[in-house]
Amino acid sequence: MNKRSFMHALVCSTLALAGSAALAQDNVFKIGLILPMTGQQASTGRQVEAAARLYMAQNGDTVAGKKIQLIVKDDTTVPDMTKRLAQELIVNDKVNVLAGFGITPSALATASLATQSKTPAVVMAAATSSITEASPYFVRTSFTLPQASVSLADWAPKNGIKKVVTLVSDYGPGIDAERFFKDRLLFNGGQVLESLRVPLRNPDFAPFLQKVRDLKPDALFVFVPSGAGAAVMKQFLERGMDKAGIKLIGTGDVTDDDQLNDMGDGALGVVTSHHYSAAHPSALNKKFVEAFRKANKGMRPNFMAVGGYDGMRVIYEALRATKGVGGGDALLAAMKGQIFESPRGPIFIDAQTRDIVQNIYLRKVVKQDGQLYNVEFDVIKDVKDPGKSH
Ligand code: DHB
Repeated sequence: MNKRSFMHALVCSTLALAGSAALAQDNVFKIGLILPMTGQQASTGRQVEAAARLYMAQNGDTVAGKKIQLIVKDDTTVPDMTKRLAQELIVNDKVNVLAGFGITPSALATASLATQSKTPAVVMAAATSSITEASPYFVRTSFTLPQASVSLADWAPKNGIKKVVTLVSDYGPGIDAERFFKDRLLFNGGQVLESLRVPLRNPDFAPFLQKVRDLKPDALFVFVPSGAGAAVMKQFLERGMDKAGIKLIGTGDVTDDDQLNDMGDGALGVVTSHHYSAAHPSALNKKFVEAFRKANKGMRPNFMAVGGYDGMRVIYEALRATKGVGGGDALLAAMKGQIFESPRGPIFIDAQTRDIVQNIYLRKVVKQDGQLYNVEFDVIKDVKDPGKSH
């Protein structure tokens, strides 16, 4: 072989190699799952990742001829890190879809990147109403705080709770919860005596609870993010608030299934409103909870897990519907309007808002088989995000 034909052969084989690499690449569908695996919201990351992996184990990792690759990144609960990771996933890994987003600031930090790169981004955890308006590429499978709060403000005055103090984490979802709970309670003839906000980072609830005690409301309405509920419950009981006749109510974040069973009997009777309980009595949920436990050393799935599980389904079905040949816009279109049964009950991705429409349940903490659960006793069906009509 002379030098020229050797070079020719070399170039051809290099191209062929590049070609087959490109082909392999074409047959991979990448999901960049950015989660807080460490830091304050680590329980959210743990729950969502476990649920995403369970979905894949149950449904296979090949869809429409593509091999699904899940790339999990830890943003350490720091929004600037979420943004940096999203940029790397888009530019270097060329992910087809972004997903995750444990807290509102992480989702908001990524909005412009999703828009510029036309990458659908499935919000599996964060729950401030305005997130889906920050990018036309956001699709949400978690919930919104207005959704949960309004239903509780309808229930409370009919059940002897007229005077309320609100206590929320001082950022997006807390401010949504405070506002929508208060507006609806006033509309229903109730009263908010005071609205208290606690810092998101390392909150000390004690001085706030002292204030609540002095105000003597019928109930204290609480929103804190997933993972912070146990601390609120502990301090609420330690300060004898329940004995002073003050009820604890809130969105279901406070009686988070990830922590509830360790909160002790002081949590019994606490009423909350939310979209998911591990005790939701459907056949599909029983299967989900059992499979989740089995795959995760007995861990109980919480509302974050169900957001991750359903988010994976939305992605899988969009890929199936576009037959594996669509880009970001085609995938996004196929995510809009999806309707299916989730472990939480029936859900619908509103095509106009890309936000989730779902049942909101009223639940009470009850002991069943020696374990504490949020047992549903009422349902408000097909609740759209009330934040969108404002
Ligand atoms: C958000 C985070 C949570 O852990 C939660 O329970 C609700 C909302 C958020 O940051 O959007």
